[in-house]
Amino acid sequence: MEEKKSMSRRDAIKTMGAIATGAVLSATGIGSLASCAKEKKRLVFYFTATGNSLYIARQLADGKNKPLSIPQLLKNRQLEFEADEIGIVYPIYGHMPPNMVKEFLQAAKLKADYLFCVPTFGMRKCSAVEIWDNLAKTCGYKFDYIQTLIMVDNWLHAFDMNEQMKMDKHIPEQLAKIQEDIAAHRQWHEPTTQEERDMHAGFMQFSGLNERDAFLMSASERFVIEGNCIECSICTQVCPRGNYKLTSRGVTATGQCDYCLACIHACPQKAIQFRPSDNPLLGPERNPKARYRNEHVSLIDIKRANDQH
Ligand SMILES: Cc1cc2nc3c(=O)[nH]c(=O)nc-3n(C[C@H](O)[C@H](O)[C@H](O)COP(=O)(O)O)c2cc1C
Ligand code: SF4
Ligand code: SF4
Repeated sequence: MEEKKSMSRRDAIKTMGAIATGAVLSATGIGSLASCAKEKKRLVFYFTATGNSLYIARQLADGKNKPLSIPQLLKNRQLEFEADEIGIVYPIYGHMPPNMVKEFLQAAKLKADYLFCVPTFGMRKCSAVEIWDNLAKTCGYKFDYIQTLIMVDNWLHAFDMNEQMKMDKHIPEQLAKIQEDIAAHRQWHEPTTQEERDMHAGFMQFSGLNERDAFLMSASERFVIEGNCIECSICTQVCPRGNYKLTSRGVTATGQCDYCLACIHACPQKAIQFRPSDNPLLGPERNPKARYRNEHVSLIDIKRANDQH
């Protein structure tokens, strides 16, 4: 990969100076970060629906600073951060970042000597690394390190969660290598083959998705809440877009949807179902009885990450 180059965005932020950055940090409630300038600080931002990316974000965090949820930062408009190392962990959706992650990168002002990105996925990464690199460049960032990590694939349209959970995807080994690389400030972008680029192009054609909107959907068009709903309100708390409401007419789902599947995976009644679709990508579930959450992550963790109330 090419040698690291300086970035216009970074240069611009540098001119803001340490005092301004410290003021911003204390206003965002993470003042301690600004006050211990000599310690090496690492901030890790994440997006998660079923816990894989949160688990990885926790493993990559530095122990002093918990990983920060992108939906919460967007909600609170906390968008300026400075650290020695900054990392972003997210699930790939059609090899692309979730729209909220894209929104965060476009709106945020991040300053760090070392930028790393770890997209999680379940089956095919295709051109995920190049897609992130290109997006980051359009936002004025050059990531030093981009490496994907394969985990359980939570895509209910194609996979049986029970089968996925039985597979050994060698997560500890992948994680150990990434931790070692990041500790050494390795300059590395996982390579993308021409075959992977072609597969991504084929996927976009087959699915009818476009790079700008990616998986942006309408919650009311994609999900139906069935009569066995017990109004437990879990869906209202795990949706990073705050799309679910408990109303006098029962639970409703409306609004723009990232199609993260946090709602459908977390519903204890399996009362949330996909509506049928003409899109071949959105066919019937492989196993409507199986749902998934990462074994190291609790339901409360998902709620804390995504709750928009
Ligand atoms: C909308 C959507 C699209 C996905 N697209 C892909 C994909 O293109 N390739 C892949 O390998 N996994 C894909 N996945 C699986 C997730 O990237 C993977 O399971 C991820 O680790 C989930 O992370 P989380 O538990 O933090 O939400 C997709 C999942 C969803 C919900
Ligand atoms: S999580 Fe399921 S059961 Fe609970 S309120 Fe939502 S739809 Fe109903
Ligand atoms: S409605 Fe469901 S799939 Fe859509 S953003 Fe909310 S939790 Fe994710």
